Amino acid sequence: KNPLRIGLIGFGCVGQGFYDIVQRQPELNLAVTRIAVKTPDKPRPLPAHHFTYHADELLADPAVDVLVEVIDDAAEAFRLVSTALRQSRRVATANKAMLARHLPELVQLQAEFGGTLLYEAAVCGSIPVVRTLDQYFSHEPLHALSGIFNGSSNYVLTRMSEDGSDYAAALAEAQLQGFAETDPALDMGAFDPRSKAVLLAAHAYGVFLESDAVLNLGIEGISAADIAYAASQGQKIKVVASLSRLPSGHLTALVTPQLVGPESPLYGVEREFNAVVLDAEFAGTQFLQGRGAGGHPTGSAVLADVLGLRRGLRYQYAKQAAAPAVQLTHGLELDA
Ligand code: HSE
Repeated sequence: KNPLRIGLIGFGCVGQGFYDIVQRQPELNLAVTRIAVKTPDKPRPLPAHHFTYHADELLADPAVDVLVEVIDDAAEAFRLVSTALRQSRRVATANKAMLARHLPELVQLQAEFGGTLLYEAAVCGSIPVVRTLDQYFSHEPLHALSGIFNGSSNYVLTRMSEDGSDYAAALAEAQLQGFAETDPALDMGAFDPRSKAVLLAAHAYGVFLESDAVLNLGIEGISAADIAYAASQGQKIKVVASLSRLPSGHLTALVTPQLVGPESPLYGVEREFNAVVLDAEFAGTQFLQGRGAGGHPTGSAVLADVLGLRRGLRYQYAKQAAAPAVQLTHGLELDA
């Protein structure tokens, strides 16, 4: 049987992690036929004929069955992914900033042209949370969803509290291990987990939030003294994202540093690990935990999407129909 032919756009940490996982599992019958990269003449672990500097060549290539987009640049990612969907193609992306900005349009393009877009790798790395919400809890009201959605900032906080590492040294470690975004302000300022909160709101509540409506506060201002004080009280500082319904029925979304005590399942989520806590009407509480960043964990989620695309998986967005009943309360206007 012919292999599924993959056009890979981007060969950074996630692209290389994905490529390596595919190479190690020939029984999956996948072939990465071409890899589009931005910078010519960079030393690469594969011979030059694998690469092109023109991602559009992959879009034009009828010998590519599935596109995997794992580049950094959100505007270029949107151009490529939206073009591919207009061609009715199957696409997997890990670009949460791009998705958070354009999700309604991307959903519309799928409906109009019949292509498919999956993006498990965009949210919490290896944790299968998009699929869990979209497929498994599609039938069930959720009261609240919270968690740790950023590996780099969690890594920095963990290192600072473990042995008093300073902020800059801990951030450099996270960068070295490939957890951080190219612009680490996205991680440290909680912009990256804000994008993930926007995506989960679509699948958990059927609401397309504007990123600006979600209050995000980062960890740049947290000092060693703050962490020591938290520890003296038996607490840890964590950047917690939370989506919940207010008694009025409005949805509120925030991503902010909080004190977390040992009674919380988030207390033990350390380093680059992420977690999601769901409070579902009938199933009760669910806790998902796994690596939220890094080439192999995130590449594993990309692979799950590619295999999903091969067997015809599509997101249902089932809660969209009920969405008009849920309105957003702006994070900054809670008291209004
Ligand atoms: N920079 C992100 C993080 C990568 O640290 O969680 C995964 O989205």
